[in-house]
Amino acid sequence: MLNKNELRALMRERKQQFTQQQLGELSAIVVSHMREYLMLMDNIVAYYSLPDEVCTHQLLDELVTAGKTVYLPKVVSDTEMVLCQYTGRDSLQKGAFDIMEPTGPVLPKDKYEDIRVVLVPGMAFDKENHRLGRGKGYYDRFLNSFPKPRHAVFYGVCFDFQRVDAIPVDEHDVCMDGLIS
Ligand SMILES: Nc1ncnc2c1ncn2[C@@H]1O[C@H](COP(=O)(O)OP(=O)(O)O)[C@@H](O)[C@H]1O
Ligand SMILES: [Mg+2]
Repeated sequence: MLNKNELRALMRERKQQFTQQQLGELSAIVVSHMREYLMLMDNIVAYYSLPDEVCTHQLLDELVTAGKTVYLPKVVSDTEMVLCQYTGRDSLQKGAFDIMEPTGPVLPKDKYEDIRVVLVPGMAFDKENHRLGRGKGYYDRFLNSFPKPRHAVFYGVCFDFQRVDAIPVDEHDVCMDGLIS
């Protein structure tokens, strides 16, 4: 089995086979697999995609237009992400790692029990829904901070080529409940 860093390198290699336009087209397919489901939900945690991730930009605006409460992560330290509500692109500002983040108030931790679904980006996901991130463990810590018993479903969102047979798992790694690709 490849170790985490070897898998990250493999994933970067696979992504380079696609142009930005192709990734956009593939993204539209993945988004079409979750749009209807998300329209039945509220209190959604999503992510504002980077160029090499399944593109969520249009979907986020559709959800807001449909009246959904949507939150995005905001990096506040070397280890911690918090949530802020996404109300539209005007409210975004470039944050750590060049990720666009909302500027509004931080959602208090005691409100996390209202969240129903979390869309989680990743570099790779395996057959047992394990996730490989970019190597800083932000999502592991963030997802671990949800109150238990948990009311939210964690969905890994990825391109098909990001699915692999097996990812090495450490004790701190948080498993997804399902994958959308
Ligand atoms: N819940 C946690 N508490 C403390 N450290 C953590 C936690 N989750 C992850 N880490 C740390 O983050 C680092 C990166 O985790 P890793 O799973 O390799 O990255 P990623 O999930 O981004 O692929 C690890 O060195 C790990 O010790
Ligand atoms: Mg991890």
